[in-house]
Amino acid sequence: MSELAKKPSSNAQPIVRFENVAKHFETSTGTTIALQNINQHIMAGEFVAVIGPSGCGKSTLLRLLCGLEQPTSGEVSWPSSADKSTPDIGVAFQEHRLLPWMNVQKNILLPTLMQKGSYSAEDEKRALLLCEMVGLKGFEGRGPAELSGGMRQRASFARALFSQPSLLLLDEPFGALDALTREKIIADAERIWMDQKFGAFLITHSISEAVHLADRVIVMSARPGRVVAEIPITLERPRTNFLGDPQFARLCDELRQHLEL
Ligand SMILES: Nc1ncnc2c1ncn2[C@@H]1O[C@H](COP(=O)(O)OP(=O)(O)O)[C@@H](O)[C@H]1O
Ligand SMILES: [Mg+2]
Repeated sequence: MSELAKKPSSNAQPIVRFENVAKHFETSTGTTIALQNINQHIMAGEFVAVIGPSGCGKSTLLRLLCGLEQPTSGEVSWPSSADKSTPDIGVAFQEHRLLPWMNVQKNILLPTLMQKGSYSAEDEKRALLLCEMVGLKGFEGRGPAELSGGMRQRASFARALFSQPSLLLLDEPFGALDALTREKIIADAERIWMDQKFGAFLITHSISEAVHLADRVIVMSARPGRVVAEIPITLERPRTNFLGDPQFARLCDELRQHLEL
């Protein structure tokens, strides 16, 4: 385990629970039913991936988790947080959302700076360790413009991990990367998750990415978004040498079939 590793929790319990959640949006052309009848949970330390066609409500689910949206009916609750409020979450999006005038280390420290108004020498050290963990050692002082697309996503990933969140929300963070970069960054993300064991909620369009990373894949239908399948993935980790693995291919096929229905 790395210096930054979290102790694994022995009695896993849900971090978050969706109970009969529906979300409607009122627009000038009528009501959009984005989500319907969502009953789900994410356990502490569990890696959950969500896959489904565009517009099926994946990002809306994530926005409900961030508290950026409220359900129209049903409840999103946080059973394991002491005061039942939203616990610490980290978020990384498809766009890296780094500030162009700040170097990598400062970008990683940005949420802390915004929250506390300053950061300590200890925080600076942690940012450097995170850079190393995500494969950006030596690039701490570079600005986003001096980095490749993959490196920017790595920085954004490090920033999301800074506060040791109990739940990491990932909205297609690897979606815009070329295939080779994507493969490398996914393998690194798996390694980091195995070391840190945070709960993770990954939205993706990629079947193989979902099978590579997740303990459980939730498949959603086209609008109104409903859960049509839940596939546990129990393949041994790390799953880096999956090419040609018949079990991996079978799980990908199973997911593809659910998506085609
Ligand atoms: N703020 C909003 N106002 C109106 N409609 C919205 C809003 N946010 C999302 N929607 C609609 O809800 C549906 C689900 O959107 P979204 O969660 O972004 O889907 P996905 O991430 O799966 O592509 C879409 O039809 C989208 O147009
Ligand atoms: Mg989306």
